[in-house]
Amino acid sequence: MLVALDSETIVGSAGAFEFELTVPGGPVRAAGVTVVGVLPTHRRRGILRELMRVQLDNAHARGEPLAVLWASEGGIYGRFGYGLASVCGDMEIPRTHTRFVREVDWPGTMRLVAVEEALQLFPQVYDRVAGETPGMFARTAEWWEKRTLADSEWRRAGGGELSFAVLELDGTPEAYAAYRLNFSYEDGVPTGKTVVIEAMGAAPAATAAVWRYLLDIDWMASVEAGLLPLDHPLFLLLLEQSRMRFRVGDGLWVRLVDVGAALAARSYADDGGLVLGVADEFCPSNEGRFALDGSVTKAAPHLRLSVDALGSVYLGGFTFADLARAGRIEEVTPGAVARADALFRTDRKPWCPEIF
Ligand SMILES: CC(C)(COP(=O)(O)OP(=O)(O)OC[C@H]1O[C@@H](n2cnc3c(N)ncnc32)[C@H](O)[C@@H]1OP(=O)(O)O)[C@@H](O)C(=O)NCCC(=O)NCCS
Repeated sequence: MLVALDSETIVGSAGAFEFELTVPGGPVRAAGVTVVGVLPTHRRRGILRELMRVQLDNAHARGEPLAVLWASEGGIYGRFGYGLASVCGDMEIPRTHTRFVREVDWPGTMRLVAVEEALQLFPQVYDRVAGETPGMFARTAEWWEKRTLADSEWRRAGGGELSFAVLELDGTPEAYAAYRLNFSYEDGVPTGKTVVIEAMGAAPAATAAVWRYLLDIDWMASVEAGLLPLDHPLFLLLLEQSRMRFRVGDGLWVRLVDVGAALAARSYADDGGLVLGVADEFCPSNEGRFALDGSVTKAAPHLRLSVDALGSVYLGGFTFADLARAGRIEEVTPGAVARADALFRTDRKPWCPEIF
């Protein structure tokens, strides 16, 4: 946690969790940037810039190749080398339009559990999903207790208490849901909403089953969920996707703190032969020509791009072709964009199910 002081008074702050973040190929240490703020009395004097400077230097010194964050406003972090690395969306679907294309075979048994048991069982599913999903970070027991499954008044915001359901197959948790039932009635008709806080399954059938459970809870008129990835299975499970009224917004932002270490930390379709010319105004030590194993090379670059653009493709949320269409990359060698996309390709979109 960093603070900016004016004499004895704290006027600005920036914190970072020490995360293990999944990237294509495995986990990587990452600074999970949070609680960034400068008092309105002290804004636009360079305090954020100084906080970002020290924070990135510290992350580098701790050996964290990446920094990640959720941005309150998209205009703030690009100048510090962060690139938008994923998008996600919210949905609210009327229960009357939640039929699946095919009925799901319900594997195992669904059980309501109290928070103590949820704290034991949910991580067993989450860890399996997080291990193979870029953008998810490992949660400690404390994180689960104090953040994910905490049910404070302010989080309820007038809604129902947090409920927990687990799907078990042969005694092993395969999927879970944390949700609220926000009851309401108009003219004797239920108009309430199931608000999904987090739901996931470790296998496709379990994911489908846990969503079927959530979509079928009686007395609720609709089901709301947020922070869903664009490749969420619901798009292909539901018969009427448009009824989700899916709204897309920005997701996780990624900053390569140490370009060489970050490139070396992720996997590629094969061992490369691609040279990236990277520009990084805010952290000039990152500037240069890099091979995908992270080594600095004298070879001519196939592509030139800024470090924030590299952050956008790092997790697989955007492609080099996306960057090219946005004029955010220079293709020095013809065909290099397609080649880079073949190398960086991932099977799934990055997903961070939680704002930190
Ligand atoms: C956003 C915030 C932290 C900026 O702090 P600050 O000390 O005023 O920022 P600085 O003076 O260091 O500005 C650094 C640069 O960012 C730009 N900037 C600052 N806030 C910005 C904003 N909201 N949108 C776009 N650009 C912004 C400045 O213009 C400056 O640009 P420059 O480098 O081209 O000159 C501060 O306004 C704040 O606390 N806002 C409310 C809380 C918030 O949004 N926090 C972020 C949580 S993710």
